[in-house]
Amino acid sequence: MLLIKWRNSYSVGIDQIDTEHKKLVELINEVFMVVRDKGDEQTLNRAVEELVAYTRYHFSAEESAMEQAGYPDLDEHRKEHQRLENEVVDFHQRLQEEGGEIRIDLYHFLRDWLIHHIIECDMRYSSYLAQQAP
Ligand SMILES: [Fe+2]
Repeated sequence: MLLIKWRNSYSVGIDQIDTEHKKLVELINEVFMVVRDKGDEQTLNRAVEELVAYTRYHFSAEESAMEQAGYPDLDEHRKEHQRLENEVVDFHQRLQEEGGEIRIDLYHFLRDWLIHHIIECDMRYSSYLAQQAP
């Protein structure tokens, strides 16, 4: 069983961005599996680190795409990315400080975090960017 199953309704209509969102789903599922299988701290840390790194990569790729398309609400979206990135970084820090105690919250947080990012934030730019696509 996976924590998040990709659904077509998550598609923002831009292949590259969908591919990156699918990769985020995959990384979150990996973290979930480490938690579920009671993996050691090191394995969990490594999985979360990978997620943080890919999140940074994805957000900056998205910002470049919005910039190229002349998306008018880029500043606002950038702030939202910053906020989401801080959330996942804070979470990683809590994980390192508190260890196993917060594990139960972990996957609920991750699932809601990603779904919020895609459904609430990215859907706002999707039609604008899809129209600009060649
Ligand atoms: Fe995104």
